[in-house]
Amino acid sequence: MAVQTSGDAPDNGGAAAIPPAAVPPPFRPGLEGVPATQSAICSIDGNQGLLTYRGYPLEQLAQNSSFLETAYLLIWGELPTIFQLRDFEHDVQMHRRVSFRIRDMMKCFPASGHPMDALQASAASLGLFYSRRALYDPQYIIDAVVRLIAKIPTMVAAFQLIRKGQDPIQPREDLPYAANFLYMLTEREPDALAARIFDACLILHAEHSLNASTFSARVTASTLTDPYAVVASAVGTLAGPLHGGANEDVLDMLDEIGSVEGVDSWLDRAISQKQKIMGFGHREYRVKDPRAVILQGLAEELFQRFGHDSMYDVARRLEAVAADRLGPKGIYPNVDFYSGLVYRKLGIPRDLFTPIFAIARTAGWLAHWREQLGANRIYRPSQIYTGSVERAWVPLDQRPAAT
Ligand code: ACO
Repeated sequence: MAVQTSGDAPDNGGAAAIPPAAVPPPFRPGLEGVPATQSAICSIDGNQGLLTYRGYPLEQLAQNSSFLETAYLLIWGELPTIFQLRDFEHDVQMHRRVSFRIRDMMKCFPASGHPMDALQASAASLGLFYSRRALYDPQYIIDAVVRLIAKIPTMVAAFQLIRKGQDPIQPREDLPYAANFLYMLTEREPDALAARIFDACLILHAEHSLNASTFSARVTASTLTDPYAVVASAVGTLAGPLHGGANEDVLDMLDEIGSVEGVDSWLDRAISQKQKIMGFGHREYRVKDPRAVILQGLAEELFQRFGHDSMYDVARRLEAVAADRLGPKGIYPNVDFYSGLVYRKLGIPRDLFTPIFAIARTAGWLAHWREQLGANRIYRPSQIYTGSVERAWVPLDQRPAAT
Protein backbone atom coordinates (compact mmCIF):
# COMPACT_ATOMS: atom_id res chain seq x y z
CA MET A 1 0.00 0.00 0.00
CA ALA A 2 1.35 3.40 -1.01
CA VAL A 3 1.76 5.83 1.87
CA GLN A 4 0.42 9.25 1.10
CA THR A 5 3.14 11.74 1.84
CA SER A 6 2.03 14.88 -0.02
CA GLY A 7 -0.40 17.43 1.35
CA ASP A 8 -2.82 16.83 -1.58
CA ALA A 9 -6.29 15.84 -0.35
CA PRO A 10 -7.62 12.60 -1.89
CA ASP A 11 -10.93 12.76 -3.81
CA ASN A 12 -13.51 11.52 -1.32
CA GLY A 13 -16.66 12.89 -2.91
CA GLY A 14 -16.84 16.02 -0.81
CA ALA A 15 -16.97 14.22 2.57
CA ALA A 16 -15.01 15.62 5.52
CA ALA A 17 -11.29 15.64 4.78
CA ILE A 18 -9.48 12.42 5.75
CA PRO A 19 -6.36 13.30 7.71
CA PRO A 20 -3.24 12.34 5.76
CA ALA A 21 -1.64 9.11 6.94
CA ALA A 22 1.39 9.73 9.14
CA VAL A 23 4.71 9.00 7.48
CA PRO A 24 6.17 6.01 9.29
CA PRO A 25 9.61 6.58 10.74
CA PRO A 26 12.42 4.84 8.86
CA PHE A 27 13.12 1.24 9.85
CA ARG A 28 16.18 1.03 12.14
CA PRO A 29 17.39 -2.57 12.65
CA GLY A 30 17.93 -3.22 16.34
CA LEU A 31 16.09 0.08 17.02
CA GLU A 32 19.47 1.80 16.91
CA GLY A 33 19.09 5.41 18.00
CA VAL A 34 15.30 5.11 18.38
CA PRO A 35 14.10 6.38 21.79
CA ALA A 36 11.71 3.75 23.16
CA THR A 37 11.08 5.34 26.54
CA GLN A 38 11.84 8.33 28.74
CA SER A 39 13.91 7.47 31.78
CA ALA A 40 15.55 9.25 34.71
CA ILE A 41 17.58 6.26 35.90
CA CYS A 42 20.86 6.13 34.03
CA SER A 43 22.73 8.29 31.54
CA ILE A 44 25.49 7.30 29.14
CA ASP A 45 27.84 9.56 27.21
CA GLY A 46 29.27 7.07 24.74
CA ASN A 47 31.75 9.50 23.20
CA GLN A 48 33.37 10.46 26.47
CA GLY A 49 32.84 7.15 28.27
CA LEU A 50 30.71 8.61 31.07
CA LEU A 51 28.06 6.68 32.96
CA THR A 52 25.86 7.93 35.81
CA TYR A 53 23.17 6.31 37.95
CA ARG A 54 20.55 8.89 38.96
CA GLY A 55 23.17 11.54 38.19
CA TYR A 56 25.95 10.05 40.32
CA PRO A 57 29.11 9.12 38.37
CA LEU A 58 29.71 5.37 38.39
CA GLU A 59 33.32 5.84 39.55
CA GLN A 60 32.12 7.55 42.75
CA LEU A 61 29.58 4.84 43.45
CA ALA A 62 32.08 2.01 42.82
CA GLN A 63 34.55 3.73 45.13
CA ASN A 64 32.24 4.74 47.98
CA SER A 65 28.90 2.96 47.84
CA SER A 66 27.71 -0.57 48.48
CA PHE A 67 25.61 -2.64 46.09
CA LEU A 68 22.54 -2.43 48.32
CA GLU A 69 22.87 1.34 48.68
CA THR A 70 23.26 1.65 44.89
CA ALA A 71 20.25 -0.63 44.35
CA TYR A 72 18.23 1.61 46.68
CA LEU A 73 19.37 4.69 44.75
CA LEU A 74 18.44 3.14 41.41
CA ILE A 75 15.06 1.83 42.49
CA TRP A 76 13.82 4.65 44.72
CA GLY A 77 15.64 7.52 43.01
CA GLU A 78 17.61 9.01 45.92
CA LEU A 79 20.51 7.96 48.10
CA PRO A 80 19.05 6.50 51.31
CA THR A 81 19.43 8.10 54.71
CA ILE A 82 21.32 6.04 57.27
CA PHE A 83 17.98 4.74 58.64
CA GLN A 84 16.54 3.95 55.23
CA LEU A 85 19.67 2.03 54.29
CA ARG A 86 19.68 0.13 57.56
CA ASP A 87 16.03 -0.85 57.08
CA PHE A 88 16.59 -1.89 53.46
CA GLU A 89 19.65 -3.99 54.36
CA HIS A 90 17.70 -5.58 57.20
CA ASP A 91 14.67 -6.35 55.02
CA VAL A 92 16.84 -7.90 52.32
CA GLN A 93 18.66 -9.93 54.94
CA MET A 94 15.35 -11.26 56.31
CA HIS A 95 14.17 -12.41 52.87
CA ARG A 96 17.28 -14.19 51.61
CA ARG A 97 15.93 -17.69 52.11
CA VAL A 98 13.94 -19.36 49.35
CA SER A 99 11.10 -21.78 49.93
CA PHE A 100 12.03 -25.45 50.24
CA ARG A 101 9.56 -25.99 47.38
CA ILE A 102 11.74 -23.92 45.05
CA ARG A 103 14.88 -25.70 46.26
CA ASP A 104 13.18 -29.05 45.63
CA MET A 105 12.13 -27.89 42.17
CA MET A 106 15.75 -26.91 41.44
CA LYS A 107 16.88 -30.38 42.47
CA CYS A 108 14.85 -31.70 39.52
CA PHE A 109 16.76 -29.52 37.04
CA PRO A 110 19.42 -31.36 35.03
CA ALA A 111 22.85 -30.73 36.56
CA SER A 112 24.20 -30.21 33.05
CA GLY A 113 21.78 -27.32 32.40
CA HIS A 114 23.07 -23.77 32.19
CA PRO A 115 22.70 -21.82 35.46
CA MET A 116 21.02 -18.97 33.56
CA ASP A 117 18.20 -21.33 32.57
CA ALA A 118 17.95 -22.51 36.16
CA LEU A 119 17.81 -18.90 37.33
CA GLN A 120 15.16 -17.92 34.80
CA ALA A 121 12.93 -20.81 35.83
CA SER A 122 13.48 -20.18 39.56
CA ALA A 123 12.86 -16.43 39.28
CA ALA A 124 9.63 -17.07 37.36
CA SER A 125 8.52 -19.58 40.00
CA LEU A 126 8.46 -16.81 42.63
CA GLY A 127 5.34 -15.54 40.91
CA LEU A 128 3.57 -18.72 42.02
CA PHE A 129 4.07 -17.74 45.64
CA TYR A 130 3.26 -14.03 45.60
CA SER A 131 0.05 -12.60 44.14
CA ARG A 132 0.13 -9.99 41.39
CA ARG A 133 -3.25 -8.54 42.24
CA ALA A 134 -1.92 -5.57 44.18
CA LEU A 135 0.48 -4.33 41.53
CA TYR A 136 -0.06 -0.66 42.39
CA ASP A 137 -0.01 -1.15 46.17
CA PRO A 138 3.17 0.59 47.46
CA GLN A 139 3.75 -2.18 50.01
CA TYR A 140 3.48 -4.85 47.31
CA ILE A 141 6.14 -3.00 45.30
CA ILE A 142 8.47 -2.71 48.30
CA ASP A 143 8.00 -6.40 49.14
CA ALA A 144 8.65 -7.49 45.55
CA VAL A 145 11.81 -5.37 45.34
CA VAL A 146 13.13 -6.76 48.61
CA ARG A 147 12.28 -10.36 47.72
CA LEU A 148 13.90 -10.24 44.30
CA ILE A 149 17.08 -8.47 45.44
CA ALA A 150 17.31 -10.90 48.37
CA LYS A 151 16.44 -14.21 46.71
CA ILE A 152 18.11 -14.07 43.29
CA PRO A 153 21.63 -14.59 44.77
CA THR A 154 20.36 -17.40 46.97
CA MET A 155 18.92 -19.17 43.92
CA VAL A 156 22.16 -18.77 41.93
CA ALA A 157 24.21 -20.20 44.80
CA ALA A 158 21.67 -22.97 45.46
CA PHE A 159 21.84 -24.29 41.90
CA GLN A 160 25.63 -24.29 42.05
CA LEU A 161 25.60 -26.61 45.09
CA ILE A 162 22.66 -28.69 43.84
CA ARG A 163 24.36 -29.47 40.54
CA LYS A 164 27.41 -30.67 42.49
CA GLY A 165 25.11 -33.07 44.31
CA GLN A 166 25.04 -31.09 47.55
CA ASP A 167 22.26 -29.47 49.53
CA PRO A 168 22.14 -25.65 49.29
CA ILE A 169 23.40 -23.93 52.40
CA GLN A 170 21.36 -21.30 54.19
CA PRO A 171 22.32 -17.61 54.04
CA ARG A 172 24.37 -16.27 56.95
CA GLU A 173 22.60 -13.42 58.72
CA ASP A 174 25.84 -11.89 60.01
CA LEU A 175 27.34 -11.44 56.53
CA PRO A 176 26.71 -8.48 54.23
CA TYR A 177 25.16 -9.02 50.82
CA ALA A 178 28.21 -9.74 48.65
CA ALA A 179 30.09 -11.69 51.31
CA ASN A 180 27.00 -13.80 51.98
CA PHE A 181 26.66 -14.69 48.31
CA LEU A 182 30.30 -15.79 48.10
CA TYR A 183 29.80 -17.76 51.29
CA MET A 184 26.69 -19.54 49.94
CA LEU A 185 28.60 -20.33 46.75
CA THR A 186 31.87 -21.57 48.20
CA GLU A 187 30.80 -22.58 51.73
CA ARG A 188 33.67 -20.47 53.03
CA GLU A 189 33.59 -16.98 54.52
CA PRO A 190 35.32 -14.86 51.88
CA ASP A 191 38.36 -12.68 52.30
CA ALA A 192 37.35 -9.05 53.01
CA LEU A 193 39.10 -7.67 49.91
CA ALA A 194 37.49 -10.32 47.69
CA ALA A 195 34.05 -9.46 49.12
CA ARG A 196 34.61 -5.72 48.63
CA ILE A 197 35.71 -6.18 45.03
CA PHE A 198 32.79 -8.50 44.31
CA ASP A 199 30.42 -5.90 45.78
CA ALA A 200 31.97 -3.25 43.50
CA CYS A 201 31.42 -5.57 40.52
CA LEU A 202 27.73 -5.74 41.42
CA ILE A 203 27.58 -1.93 41.45
CA LEU A 204 29.22 -1.77 38.01
CA HIS A 205 26.69 -4.20 36.53
CA ALA A 206 23.60 -2.84 38.29
CA GLU A 207 22.19 -0.67 35.49
CA HIS A 208 22.89 0.41 31.93
CA SER A 209 19.82 2.13 30.46
CA LEU A 210 17.79 0.50 27.72
CA ASN A 211 19.98 -2.50 26.88
CA ALA A 212 18.28 -5.62 25.52
CA SER A 213 17.41 -7.21 28.87
CA THR A 214 16.12 -3.96 30.38
CA PHE A 215 14.04 -3.31 27.28
CA SER A 216 12.70 -6.83 27.65
CA ALA A 217 11.90 -6.07 31.32
CA ARG A 218 10.05 -2.88 30.37
CA VAL A 219 8.05 -4.57 27.61
CA THR A 220 7.03 -7.31 30.04
CA ALA A 221 6.27 -4.76 32.76
CA SER A 222 4.08 -2.77 30.38
CA THR A 223 1.56 -5.64 30.26
CA LEU A 224 1.12 -5.24 34.05
CA THR A 225 2.24 -8.77 34.75
CA ASP A 226 4.00 -9.52 38.03
CA PRO A 227 7.58 -8.37 38.77
CA TYR A 228 8.81 -11.98 38.96
CA ALA A 229 7.81 -12.46 35.31
CA VAL A 230 9.51 -9.12 34.52
CA VAL A 231 12.80 -10.28 36.03
CA ALA A 232 12.50 -13.79 34.55
CA SER A 233 12.02 -12.40 31.04
CA ALA A 234 15.01 -10.11 31.50
CA VAL A 235 17.16 -13.01 32.74
CA GLY A 236 16.31 -14.93 29.57
CA THR A 237 17.32 -11.97 27.44
CA LEU A 238 20.55 -11.38 29.33
CA ALA A 239 21.64 -14.97 28.71
CA GLY A 240 22.50 -14.48 25.03
CA PRO A 241 26.14 -14.30 23.86
CA LEU A 242 25.67 -10.85 22.34
CA HIS A 243 24.60 -9.52 25.76
CA GLY A 244 25.48 -10.81 29.24
CA GLY A 245 26.67 -14.19 27.97
CA ALA A 246 29.74 -12.59 26.37
CA ASN A 247 31.69 -12.58 29.67
CA GLU A 248 31.91 -16.38 29.56
CA ASP A 249 32.96 -16.34 25.92
CA VAL A 250 35.77 -13.87 26.62
CA LEU A 251 37.64 -16.38 28.79
CA ASP A 252 37.05 -19.14 26.21
CA MET A 253 38.52 -16.80 23.61
CA LEU A 254 41.56 -15.95 25.78
CA ASP A 255 42.05 -19.69 26.36
CA GLU A 256 41.94 -20.28 22.63
CA ILE A 257 44.52 -17.54 21.98
CA GLY A 258 46.70 -19.20 24.58
CA SER A 259 49.67 -16.83 24.84
CA VAL A 260 50.73 -13.21 24.41
CA GLU A 261 52.74 -14.27 21.35
CA GLY A 262 49.64 -15.77 19.75
CA VAL A 263 47.51 -12.63 20.00
CA ASP A 264 48.47 -10.80 16.79
CA SER A 265 48.00 -13.72 14.41
CA TRP A 266 44.80 -14.82 16.18
CA LEU A 267 43.30 -11.35 15.85
CA ASP A 268 44.35 -11.07 12.19
CA ARG A 269 42.64 -14.34 11.44
CA ALA A 270 39.52 -13.47 13.44
CA ILE A 271 39.16 -10.10 11.70
CA SER A 272 39.74 -11.61 8.25
CA GLN A 273 37.03 -14.17 9.00
CA LYS A 274 34.72 -11.33 10.13
CA GLN A 275 34.48 -12.94 13.57
CA LYS A 276 33.16 -10.82 16.44
CA ILE A 277 35.76 -10.34 19.16
CA MET A 278 34.00 -11.15 22.42
CA GLY A 279 34.08 -8.41 25.04
CA PHE A 280 34.58 -5.72 22.37
CA GLY A 281 32.13 -3.27 20.89
CA HIS A 282 29.05 -1.60 22.26
CA ARG A 283 26.09 0.11 20.67
CA GLU A 284 26.45 3.07 23.05
CA TYR A 285 30.22 3.55 23.35
CA ARG A 286 32.79 4.76 20.85
CA VAL A 287 35.52 4.62 23.51
CA LYS A 288 36.50 2.07 26.15
CA ASP A 289 33.51 1.25 28.34
CA PRO A 290 34.00 3.08 31.69
CA ARG A 291 33.02 -0.13 33.49
CA ALA A 292 35.86 -1.98 31.75
CA VAL A 293 38.27 0.70 33.00
CA ILE A 294 37.16 0.18 36.61
CA LEU A 295 37.04 -3.62 36.30
CA GLN A 296 40.58 -3.66 34.97
CA GLY A 297 41.70 -1.76 38.09
CA LEU A 298 39.84 -4.22 40.31
CA ALA A 299 41.45 -7.16 38.50
CA GLU A 300 44.90 -5.65 39.12
CA GLU A 301 44.07 -5.17 42.83
CA LEU A 302 43.17 -8.86 43.03
CA PHE A 303 46.33 -9.94 41.19
CA GLN A 304 48.48 -7.91 43.58
CA ARG A 305 46.90 -9.60 46.55
CA PHE A 306 46.30 -13.14 45.33
CA GLY A 307 48.87 -13.57 42.54
CA HIS A 308 49.15 -12.74 38.87
CA ASP A 309 47.07 -14.38 36.13
CA SER A 310 48.89 -14.86 32.82
CA MET A 311 45.53 -14.71 31.03
CA TYR A 312 45.52 -11.01 31.94
CA ASP A 313 48.68 -10.51 29.86
CA VAL A 314 46.92 -12.07 26.88
CA ALA A 315 43.91 -9.78 27.47
CA ARG A 316 46.06 -6.66 27.67
CA ARG A 317 47.92 -7.55 24.50
CA LEU A 318 44.61 -8.20 22.75
CA GLU A 319 43.30 -4.82 23.88
CA ALA A 320 46.48 -3.09 22.61
CA VAL A 321 46.47 -4.78 19.21
CA ALA A 322 42.71 -4.40 18.80
CA ALA A 323 43.04 -0.66 19.48
CA ASP A 324 44.92 -0.36 16.15
CA ARG A 325 42.68 -2.67 14.17
CA LEU A 326 39.20 -2.04 15.63
CA GLY A 327 39.69 1.29 17.43
CA PRO A 328 39.19 3.35 14.24
CA LYS A 329 35.67 1.83 14.03
CA GLY A 330 34.98 2.84 17.66
CA ILE A 331 35.25 -0.75 18.91
CA TYR A 332 36.90 -1.02 22.33
CA PRO A 333 36.61 -3.33 25.37
CA ASN A 334 33.16 -3.43 26.95
CA VAL A 335 32.12 -4.41 30.48
CA ASP A 336 32.50 -8.11 29.72
CA PHE A 337 36.15 -7.96 28.72
CA TYR A 338 37.70 -7.77 32.19
CA SER A 339 34.84 -8.97 34.41
CA GLY A 340 35.59 -12.63 33.68
CA LEU A 341 39.20 -12.20 34.80
CA VAL A 342 38.00 -10.74 38.11
CA TYR A 343 35.52 -13.57 38.70
CA ARG A 344 38.09 -16.19 37.70
CA LYS A 345 40.48 -14.82 40.33
CA LEU A 346 37.66 -15.02 42.87
CA GLY A 347 37.35 -18.72 42.03
CA ILE A 348 33.89 -18.43 40.44
CA PRO A 349 33.01 -20.99 37.73
CA ARG A 350 32.68 -19.56 34.24
CA ASP A 351 29.06 -20.37 33.66
CA LEU A 352 28.11 -18.39 36.78
CA PHE A 353 29.46 -15.12 35.36
CA THR A 354 26.19 -14.26 33.64
CA PRO A 355 23.98 -15.26 36.60
CA ILE A 356 26.13 -12.91 38.70
CA PHE A 357 25.49 -10.20 36.14
CA ALA A 358 21.77 -10.97 36.63
CA ILE A 359 22.07 -10.62 40.43
CA ALA A 360 23.38 -7.10 39.93
CA ARG A 361 21.13 -6.11 37.04
CA THR A 362 18.03 -7.09 39.01
CA ALA A 363 18.41 -3.67 40.67
CA GLY A 364 18.26 -1.91 37.30
CA TRP A 365 15.41 -4.07 36.02
CA LEU A 366 13.38 -3.26 39.15
CA ALA A 367 14.11 0.46 38.79
CA HIS A 368 12.78 0.28 35.23
CA TRP A 369 9.79 -1.80 36.36
CA ARG A 370 8.81 0.93 38.82
CA GLU A 371 9.40 3.67 36.28
CA GLN A 372 7.33 1.81 33.67
CA LEU A 373 4.43 1.39 36.10
CA GLY A 374 4.62 5.10 36.89
CA ALA A 375 3.72 6.14 33.32
CA ASN A 376 2.60 2.93 31.70
CA ARG A 377 1.48 2.39 28.15
CA ILE A 378 1.72 -1.10 26.74
CA TYR A 379 4.55 -1.54 24.20
CA ARG A 380 3.14 -2.31 20.80
CA PRO A 381 5.47 -1.15 18.02
CA SER A 382 4.54 -1.44 14.38
CA GLN A 383 6.27 -3.48 11.69
CA ILE A 384 6.95 -3.27 8.00
CA TYR A 385 5.29 -6.30 6.47
CA THR A 386 7.51 -8.00 3.88
CA GLY A 387 5.59 -11.26 3.35
CA SER A 388 3.36 -12.54 0.55
CA VAL A 389 0.08 -10.81 -0.26
CA GLU A 390 -3.27 -12.41 -1.03
CA ARG A 391 -2.48 -16.05 -1.72
CA ALA A 392 -5.24 -18.62 -2.28
CA TRP A 393 -5.09 -21.71 -0.05
CA VAL A 394 -3.98 -24.86 -1.93
CA PRO A 395 -5.42 -28.27 -0.93
CA LEU A 396 -2.78 -30.67 0.37
CA ASP A 397 -3.07 -33.11 -2.57
CA GLN A 398 -2.49 -30.30 -5.06
CA ARG A 399 0.73 -28.97 -3.54
CA PRO A 400 3.98 -29.78 -5.30
CA ALA A 401 5.91 -32.63 -3.72
CA ALA A 402 8.96 -31.53 -1.75
CA THR A 403 12.14 -31.76 -3.78
N1 ACO B 1 34.48 -7.53 16.96
C1 ACO B 1 34.68 -7.21 15.69
N2 ACO B 1 33.89 -6.37 15.00
C2 ACO B 1 32.87 -5.84 15.66
C3 ACO B 1 32.60 -6.12 17.01
C4 ACO B 1 33.46 -7.00 17.66
N3 ACO B 1 33.27 -7.33 18.93
N4 ACO B 1 31.51 -5.45 17.39
C5 ACO B 1 31.10 -4.76 16.35
N5 ACO B 1 31.91 -5.00 15.29
C6 ACO B 1 31.79 -4.44 13.94
C7 ACO B 1 30.77 -5.23 13.13
O1 ACO B 1 31.36 -6.31 12.46
C8 ACO B 1 30.23 -4.18 12.21
O2 ACO B 1 31.19 -3.96 11.21
P1 ACO B 1 30.73 -3.61 9.70
O3 ACO B 1 29.94 -2.34 9.81
O4 ACO B 1 32.00 -3.48 8.96
O5 ACO B 1 29.88 -4.77 9.27
C9 ACO B 1 30.22 -2.93 13.08
O6 ACO B 1 31.25 -3.12 14.05
C10 ACO B 1 28.90 -2.71 13.79
O7 ACO B 1 28.59 -3.92 14.50
P2 ACO B 1 27.15 -4.33 14.96
O8 ACO B 1 27.15 -5.76 15.34
O9 ACO B 1 26.17 -3.86 13.93
O10 ACO B 1 27.02 -3.41 16.24
P3 ACO B 1 25.84 -3.48 17.26
O11 ACO B 1 25.77 -2.15 17.89
O12 ACO B 1 24.63 -4.03 16.62
O13 ACO B 1 26.34 -4.60 18.30
C11 ACO B 1 27.41 -5.67 20.06
C12 ACO B 1 26.88 -4.34 19.54
C13 ACO B 1 26.30 -6.73 19.97
C14 ACO B 1 27.80 -5.52 21.52
C15 ACO B 1 28.63 -6.08 19.21
O14 ACO B 1 29.65 -5.14 19.36
C16 ACO B 1 29.13 -7.48 19.54
O15 ACO B 1 28.59 -8.46 19.04
N6 ACO B 1 30.19 -7.58 20.44
C17 ACO B 1 30.70 -8.86 20.85
C18 ACO B 1 29.81 -9.48 21.91
C19 ACO B 1 29.92 -8.74 23.23
O16 ACO B 1 30.99 -8.45 23.72
N7 ACO B 1 28.75 -8.48 23.83
C20 ACO B 1 28.66 -7.82 25.13
C21 ACO B 1 28.17 -6.41 24.98
S1 ACO B 1 28.11 -5.58 26.53
C22 ACO B 1 26.70 -6.20 27.24
O17 ACO B 1 25.75 -6.56 26.61
C23 ACO B 1 26.69 -6.33 28.69
